[in-house]
Amino acid sequence: YPDFKVENEPILGYKKGSAEREQLIEALEKASNTIEDIPIVIGGEEFRTSEVRHQVMPHDHQHKIAQFYYADNKLIQKAINKSVEVQAKWDRTPMGERLEIWNRAADLMAGKYRQKLNAATMLGQSKTTIQAEIDSACELIDFIRFNAFFLKENSKYQPISENPCVTKNSVRFRGFDGFFAAVSPFNFTAIGGNLSYTPALMGNSVLWKPSDTAVLSNWVVYQIMREAGVPEGVVNFLPSDGPVFGDAITSSPYLSGINFTGSVPTFNRLWQQVGQNINNYINYPKLIGECGGKNYHFVHPSADPQSVITSTIRSAFEYCGQKCSACSRAYIPESLWTEIRDGMIKEQGKLKVGDVTDFSTFMGAVIDERAFNRIKSYIDHARSSDKLDIIVGGKYDNSKGFFIQPTIVKTTDPKDKIMVEEIFGPVLSIYVYPDRELDATMELVGSSTQFALTGAVFANDEAFLRRAFEEFKMTAGNFYINDKSTGSVVGQQPFGGGRMSGTNDKAGGPYYTTRFTTIQAIKETF
Ligand code: SER
Repeated sequence: YPDFKVENEPILGYKKGSAEREQLIEALEKASNTIEDIPIVIGGEEFRTSEVRHQVMPHDHQHKIAQFYYADNKLIQKAINKSVEVQAKWDRTPMGERLEIWNRAADLMAGKYRQKLNAATMLGQSKTTIQAEIDSACELIDFIRFNAFFLKENSKYQPISENPCVTKNSVRFRGFDGFFAAVSPFNFTAIGGNLSYTPALMGNSVLWKPSDTAVLSNWVVYQIMREAGVPEGVVNFLPSDGPVFGDAITSSPYLSGINFTGSVPTFNRLWQQVGQNINNYINYPKLIGECGGKNYHFVHPSADPQSVITSTIRSAFEYCGQKCSACSRAYIPESLWTEIRDGMIKEQGKLKVGDVTDFSTFMGAVIDERAFNRIKSYIDHARSSDKLDIIVGGKYDNSKGFFIQPTIVKTTDPKDKIMVEEIFGPVLSIYVYPDRELDATMELVGSSTQFALTGAVFANDEAFLRRAFEEFKMTAGNFYINDKSTGSVVGQQPFGGGRMSGTNDKAGGPYYTTRFTTIQAIKETF
């Protein structure tokens, strides 16, 4: 197969009068005037059940943009049978052909369908233009291209054959003779595409359960992959009730693995169900999960306050703090507090919250009512506790959309639940530490939560940075020095966390694809 190089997809600017802006406006208009009817798809056949659901726009929750159907247990079983049936043939498809399909899909996403994808992500997941562009355009395209590239690069390695005239050693990647399940989240369209199509790239068949609140953008991805040439039945599209889907897949002997992004309790439940069924499987299922975070910014007295202000505001509030990597707790030294506080209040005042189709909006609405109520409960807790002080923000309103103001809370208790629990919304908690208590405060970073997804330190003192580099080793799968905790780029910072944040398989890196294969070593003797 001819060599190909990969580069990250450039982010478009959407300036007034630009072609991409005009195309996006047109796509937004079309999507907001349509209620897309989204079927269940199994082996290319469409199904509609009586369990009808709707996707609404979070920033205008009376406005429906999609109608879809829950697959019941019978249909999920049908999809399992179909997957098992098509897998062997798909696995025999030469790597070159698969790479061509993936590259074709990436080109379709980068060109013809870019604005359709962005519009679906903006309206359905309440992302601003720039947040949609870096997600459903750049990160998604990067995942598709880089994973194809990594498969090819990893395949180049072949073991040593000591005497090639007599023996030849080789290895080959094989898909599993069962199926993978992909359970994808609402917050990144790119994660939906990556979770479902990386196992497929590696020769597996897949049952994809998209999130109810991202079903439209995920459907667009699904259609593009079909148009690019992924054969019917290789990936089956199954919106469904979480527990029904979980029970069906874990009780099938053909489950080869679960590629999951979501909450800790759900991942733990799937893991337990796999344990209960362990005697029934034909393969040990691989469990790959990304589950949550309580990501931190740790500020040293030697840090540049302006860089802390800008980075922390962006990390905590872009996409309403609903990126897995968003900064949710910050530790700030007393000596810098006044300057950082004033700077943050000023920056927060500039953030426009509202309709994401307005190009000047910084933050849309949070994803749904459940999220709104959860986040609101933390703000109410801050309002009622003596130990907590709302520095700025704190207002919420769900009359039209699920809007929550960017909120900053200061606490005198670094172990208060607001500093420890995942909120997954635009609420930043800050503990201001006495400079002399640097050591004790550093200790809190790793010991006060069960998570270890992302973290950042801000300092100009090199000795401190060396120390933090060692002491914070287990506190973050993605660790940033003098930069915000969000914004990992495929191929540049492979993404994933340890501890209860997940199995840390590093999406966007060369190791990720190997999680979805079972490798055969072959010795040929002549
Ligand atoms: N790339 C995203 C981030 O780091 C996560 O997928 O914010």
